[in-house]
Amino acid sequence: MATPGAPSEVAGKIIFSDSEIALRVDELGAAITADYSGRDLVLVTILKGGIFFLADLSRRIDLPLTTDFMAVSSYFGGSPGNVRITKDLDDSIQGRDVLIVEDIIDTGLTLNYVIKNLRSRGPASLEICTLLDKDVRRIVELPIAYRGFTVADRFLIGYGLDLRGRYRNLPFLAELHEVALL
Ligand code: IMP
Ligand code: MG
Repeated sequence: MATPGAPSEVAGKIIFSDSEIALRVDELGAAITADYSGRDLVLVTILKGGIFFLADLSRRIDLPLTTDFMAVSSYFGGSPGNVRITKDLDDSIQGRDVLIVEDIIDTGLTLNYVIKNLRSRGPASLEICTLLDKDVRRIVELPIAYRGFTVADRFLIGYGLDLRGRYRNLPFLAELHEVALL
């Protein structure tokens, strides 16, 4: 297999620059700070893509929050939405105000499973914050409380989004360069 190209070579058209993302993350952080004041907020992120957004968003929320992480693997080849938890949360969420922080919601199948699972643990509240909403691809409707941007049905890389595990470390969101599609 050819050596993977550097992120700067693989990135094509920039869809959201790092400063555009930062501005939107500021706004989301301010909204969450206002809404969750006086509550017991825990940000739950699904590894690995969500950690980039979480790192920036959490620093724009002026509340004594905690963070926790989950990893899941999906087998969409079998029955749709067949998801397995490969790393569970470290702490109980019972009675806490859970905000799921996601990089992108596409079909919604993965998050639908996660939501059902987390709801069964008795949180005080459970909401979704996603940086990107690829809404035209949705199979399962999900209540999204906070949305960074709605995006078209194009494959994106960067700011946590990967192509076969790589390019999450691009500081912006981009389409693939034509050369990278070959
Ligand atoms: P779904 O909502 O269950 O279909 O899955 C969402 C997951 O699909 C995300 O967490 C990403 O890992 C992946 N995904 C969806 N769209 C893209 C994209 O444009 N680039 C990279 N990963 C994507
Ligand atoms: Mg992924």
